[in-house]
Parts: sequence; structure tokens; C-alpha cells
Amino acid sequence: MKAFIVDRYGRNGHGRNPAALRFGEMPEPELRDNDVLVQVHAAGVNALDAKIRNGEFKLILPYRLPLVLGNDVAGVVVRVGPGVRSFKPGDEIYARPHQDRIGSFAELIAMNESDVAIKPNKLSMEEAASIPLVGLTAWQALIERAQLKKGQKVFIHAGSGGVGTFAIQLAKYFGAFVATTTSTPNVEWVKRLGADVVIDYTKENFEEVLHDYDVVLNSLGSDALAKSVRVLKRGGKLISISGPPDSAFAKDIGANPFLAFVMRLLSFRIRRQARRRGIDYSFLFMRADGEQLRKVTALIDAGAIRPVVERVFPFESTNDALAYVEKGRARGKVVIKLR
Ligand SMILES: NC(=O)c1ccc[n+]([C@@H]2O[C@H](COP(=O)([O-])OP(=O)(O)OC[C@H]3O[C@@H](n4cnc5c(N)ncnc54)[C@H](OP(=O)(O)O)[C@@H]3O)[C@@H](O)[C@H]2O)c1
Repeated sequence: MKAFIVDRYGRNGHGRNPAALRFGEMPEPELRDNDVLVQVHAAGVNALDAKIRNGEFKLILPYRLPLVLGNDVAGVVVRVGPGVRSFKPGDEIYARPHQDRIGSFAELIAMNESDVAIKPNKLSMEEAASIPLVGLTAWQALIERAQLKKGQKVFIHAGSGGVGTFAIQLAKYFGAFVATTTSTPNVEWVKRLGADVVIDYTKENFEEVLHDYDVVLNSLGSDALAKSVRVLKRGGKLISISGPPDSAFAKDIGANPFLAFVMRLLSFRIRRQARRRGIDYSFLFMRADGEQLRKVTALIDAGAIRPVVERVFPFESTNDALAYVEKGRARGKVVIKLR
């Protein structure tokens, strides 16, 4: 099958773009007992793809190379393993594959059925492929971990990004009051997604405007993270998806003592800042979860959340799609179309 492949982390390509993925042939993925084999129609592109390609996740996600990249998929089931109960050939599905079995930048991908859900009725394949990773991230941060309740105040950094556009809609659906940040050209557009307060970060400092928030979802760097502490009230929750990782995460992934120590060290400062103000800091690394994805499907089918796809690239242009996402200016999601 044709696929976009990481041969070596970082500088693994040739010519003008040294970090380019190689477009080449890979064997069809192995189909295990509880797997569905899916013909990929569309694949969502995430910042995570570029970070994996660059080798930034080597310690957390030790992949064997060559690796087919791609963390979001929509497509059609073509074959199922003998243990599969919930899917049959012909089903239109979408998924964020398990982190150990990524590879949606390819014609075929095999996934455990527990990671997969039937695609929302109303969505095209490209729209569906834009949802799983960011949808599950927002769900796991705001609903599972923060247990967001009606009337609570939540601040979502970078409301015009992939995670932000979904998280705003999800928080509004659960009845929260939502503040977010973006740059001038996106302000009105993000308001239309439902945000109650939109701060133009080129004109105002969010930490001077927002106070007494219950939850902050951080997806930016250490500066924004440190300032986020000031936005929260005592007892509030600061959840970061862009690091630094903490001890609980080290335990979750079974990190060796050295890696666990490094993670404790990396998060020492923010944990101390948070503790001093009675705030709970935690790092979240999202996980694949077909059951949760079905809950997301229900919200999409009900019209409560809509996908936000800014650009669709043809399969051959996967490297361009990745480069576009890496610039960090995407308005919503970027998707690759295979068929
Ligand atoms: N831990 C996890 O499980 C997990 C899951 C998903 C994502 N992530 C991480 O979370 C981060 C965000 O992911 P994403 O997919 O949402 O990224 P993205 O879609 O690439 O984000 C792009 C958006 O960020 C906005 N932005 C950039 N700088 C900003 C700033 N200083 N203040 C406010 N907005 C800013 C841009 O808006 P403007 O053009 O208006 O600036 C743009 O719309 C990435 O680092 C990703 O790796 C982690």
C-alpha cells in the first residue's frame, strides 16, 4: 500500500525539505483478532504528527521505524478479525487509532475495534477525519478530568485552533461560560463558535482580563501556562495538553525511574506555582477511546458540535499539509483526502 513514512526522526528526507516524509510502499497492516481493517478515505493532520516526525516524542512513544504517520482517520471497513463484534465490512467509521498503532497517512490501517466508532451521519469523510483526536482531547480534558459543570467558567487558550474550536463548542454544550484567545482576524469568527469572551492576544493580556475561572485548558507554551495560574480561582484546575508532563503521567505510561524523575523536574515549577494558589495542575495526553468517540458522535448528530475544517490537501501533498499545520496558524483543522 502507498503511505507517508518516517524512516528516521528529524532529518529523514532529501532536497529542499529535509524533514519530509517519504512517500512509498509499505506492507498491508497486520489484522489481529479484534481488529478492523479500514480503507482510509481521509486523515486528519495534527501538530502531534510533526512532533513525532521530528523525534520529539521518542521517549514517550518509542516507535519502531519505518513508521507510517497519521493519528486521525475516516474510512470504510474492508475486513474484520474473527473476534470483532461491533463492525462489519462496508461500515463507515472514524477513529483516533491507539497511540501504539498509528498510521492513517496510508491507504489502509488496522485498528482494534475498541478504538473505532461509526462515522457521524451528517459528516463527509473529510469532516469526520478532523474530529477524533481533538474531540477526544477536549472531552478528556473538560468532561472527564475537569468534570465541567453548568455555569462554571472555563478559559480555553487558542480558540481558533484544532483543539480550541472543538473545546469551545463542547464547553458551551455543557453549559459553561467560555473565554478564549485568538489574533485579530479570528476574533469575530471565534465568537460565532460560541465563546462568551474573546481576547485578542495581540492587544490584551489575558491574565489581566480574566479572573476567578474554574478551569483552564492550556495548549500553549510555558509563559502562557505560568500566567494561566493567575486566571484561576482557589480550587481551580489547570490542565495542560502541551506540557510539561507530571508524575501522574509518568506513572500512567509506566515511565522508568529516570524518565519519571525528568518529568517531575520539568513540571516542578508550575506545580509549585499552582500549589501556592490552591490550584490543581495536571498534564493530559489524550488516549484513543471508541466509546467516548460515540458520545462525541451523538453531539455531532444532534447538531450541538460542528466540524471546522480549514483546508483539505490531496494525499500526494501530505508533506505540505504537515508543514501548514506546523506553522501554527490553522483556523480549525487540516485534512488529507485519499479518495
Ligand atoms: N496532549 C494531548 O493529548 C494533545 C492533544 C491535542 C493537541 N495537543 C497539543 O496542543 C497544541 C494545540 O493543538 P491544536 O491542534 O489545537 O493546534 P493548531 O490547530 O495548530 O493551533 C493553531 C491555532 O493556534 C492559535 N494560536 C497560536 N498562537 C497563539 C497564541 N499565542 N494565543 C492564542 N492562540 C494562538 C492560532 O491562532 P492565530 O493564528 O489567531 O494566532 C491558530 O488558530 C499543540 O501543541 C498540540 O501538539 C496535545
